[in-house]
Amino acid sequence: MRVLELILKKRDGGNLSAEEIGFLISEFNRGNIPDYQMSALLMAIYFQGLNARETTALTAALAESGEMLDFSSLGAIVADKHSSGGVGDKITLVLAPLVAAAGVPVAKISGRGLGFTGGTIDKLESIPGFSARLPVEKFMELVRENNLAIMAQTERLTPADGKLYALRDVTGTVENISLIAASIMSKKIAAGANAILLDVKMGKGAFIQNREEAFHLAETMVRIGKEMGRRVVSVVTDMNQPLGFAVGNALEIKEIMAVLNGQGPSDVEHLAVLLGGYLLALVGKVRNPEEGQEELSRLIKNGAALKKFKQMVISQGGRSECLEDLSLLPQAKFVEMIKAPKPGYLHDIDARKVGKVAALLGAGRFFKGDEIDYSVGVVLNHKVGDSVAAGDVLAHIHGNNEDTLKTAFKEISGAFSIGEEKSPGFPLVYGVVPPFPS
Ligand code: URA
Repeated sequence: MRVLELILKKRDGGNLSAEEIGFLISEFNRGNIPDYQMSALLMAIYFQGLNARETTALTAALAESGEMLDFSSLGAIVADKHSSGGVGDKITLVLAPLVAAAGVPVAKISGRGLGFTGGTIDKLESIPGFSARLPVEKFMELVRENNLAIMAQTERLTPADGKLYALRDVTGTVENISLIAASIMSKKIAAGANAILLDVKMGKGAFIQNREEAFHLAETMVRIGKEMGRRVVSVVTDMNQPLGFAVGNALEIKEIMAVLNGQGPSDVEHLAVLLGGYLLALVGKVRNPEEGQEELSRLIKNGAALKKFKQMVISQGGRSECLEDLSLLPQAKFVEMIKAPKPGYLHDIDARKVGKVAALLGAGRFFKGDEIDYSVGVVLNHKVGDSVAAGDVLAHIHGNNEDTLKTAFKEISGAFSIGEEKSPGFPLVYGVVPPFPS
């Protein structure tokens, strides 16, 4: 097979066979196709698209480029959850222990944050001693023992996706629904879970802002999962304002512990319980999502979910005293307040702007491999729709560098918009694909 012929075929609107896609991905992974040819192919795909069959073939080829985990020896359906990324999005760290406490094994491989969105692994690594760099064997053992383990993406899984994503990132070819769906689903398929809940974020703080594209991505991923023998449900949820109040790694861990204690922000608890209910129904643990949601609310009230979270953290090296005394988590040196300039109703708290400010303070990365500061970030005091008086505190900014704090202070003012009319706020959920139960 000649690579150039396949590039020309796609450029001219033709369809690639599963064999041709398998060849391209495995040769690229081996280093036998130069980046310039792969870039040309990606751009051809960007403009010509991939049909359903090609998208599934690409997913399979990416998944098979590395190790494929197999939990069949567990004799139980293993669950996984993925978010397309957002600001203050800590749902995984509430949902995973909840679902595990309900008796469903959860095996979660997560990424680190990049840009204005945070990553689950960074949040966990803000707990002193916690390690997400588990050997695959240890990860599987912990899922078997505790029903729950969370590890960082490794090169042993979907290496071709890592290489392809790096190329897409610098060739303007990230924003294609087929490429995004295949990239996400290949990692889910390789990670071995049989039941997958996908949280597709839509809004200013997500990489998808448009309803049609969000549902297209949700539907594409559900279809791929089905074709590859997995149970999948996608939920399209809001990411216009940050989730909860805290944005920043250790600050979010504190908020997660509060939610698991039944004392956290209601949007985080509500969304985690709602999505978890779908996951319990998907694995057949309950008859419908509502029954699952009732069970999960009970597991927050009786402390079982918090106990599961602590067990997971301690099993992965996290220092238990930091979970009992949250002041032992990293703390920033300075805390500044930002106040409402006038009275009214909050019409907007722009998630993207808040995420960028948190990253500027050091909570996020601008480049892969950047060091992050676990202690810094933003803690909001309100949600969109709240009424505020002039001088009310809108947020606290936690930082370690006075100059950066000054810039952050200026930048964050632009995230808030206050109007005279009452604002309805944003719905938490826009839709479920496929409609449940299907
Ligand atoms: N997340 C992924 O894992 N891949 C994409 O292509 C986009 C978002």
